[in-house]
Amino acid sequence: MSITSWVRSLPGRALKGLRAHTAPTRQGLPPKLPRHVALIMDGNGRWAQKRGLPRSAGHAAGVEALRDIIRACDDWGIEVLSIYAFSTENWGRPQGEVNTLMDLLQRNLLGELEEMAGKNVRIRILGDVSGLPAPQRAAVETAVARTRDNTGLMFNIAVNYGGKDELLRAARLLMDRAAAGEMTSADLTEQAFASYLYTSGQPDVDLLIRTSGEMRTSNFLPWQSAYAELVFNPMLWPDYDREAFREDLWTYAERDRRFGKVKKP
Ligand code: FPP
Repeated sequence: MSITSWVRSLPGRALKGLRAHTAPTRQGLPPKLPRHVALIMDGNGRWAQKRGLPRSAGHAAGVEALRDIIRACDDWGIEVLSIYAFSTENWGRPQGEVNTLMDLLQRNLLGELEEMAGKNVRIRILGDVSGLPAPQRAAVETAVARTRDNTGLMFNIAVNYGGKDELLRAARLLMDRAAAGEMTSADLTEQAFASYLYTSGQPDVDLLIRTSGEMRTSNFLPWQSAYAELVFNPMLWPDYDREAFREDLWTYAERDRRFGKVKKP
């Protein structure tokens, strides 16, 4: 039995924290892998434009690139992958493009669901699902329910997501609890606050990758990425593949993470 299958056969609790320590050194990977990778898949439109294609073709190609990266995360034992599929600001795009993105989300989520469920992937949605059109809402709810008990790769799909929105939502929930006399300000620790975020119970982001050369994080996981290593890859998202991902994992492994402290002598 391979190490990966052995680790996967462990019960959920035993699995926690273990995958990072059993990070494979095979397949040209660095010995130290991030537990949580966040992806901003930028450049679909430019990729299409360079080829004289409609933007929708760029998004469709982007989904193919994503499929390869999800498989790589699963193969390589990454614990959590978070993708920025659709932000609260993306509603402002032309209606045809919004429809394309919603359609891709629904079709691919349902189309890939059995493979992902079979690979023990657990899907979680980050964002306000109540603001989605009915078919997309049904698709994400089906995907979450179908994979709820899985213990492998945690795949977070940020859809109708905004980081400031997420923080406000947490603050409102906490204020309600305080108003109900269930807690006081003294109870509000960092850990307690984090438990009101969509990523409750998950490790913080270790590595945030944005493609297409843009150097900003655009309201994606601001709390969770406070100490993330940022990698801005110039490739356009549809060209990104597991080779590029491997390179970015090496860049991450070579960084010196001190979390505000000094390095031990
Ligand atoms: C940014 O490129 C990309 C997006 C806004 C959408 C990314 C979404 C997907 C690849 C689909 C995800 C779907 C599933 C199945 C979960 P851009 O359009 O901003 O590119 P540009 O900056 O070159 O115009």
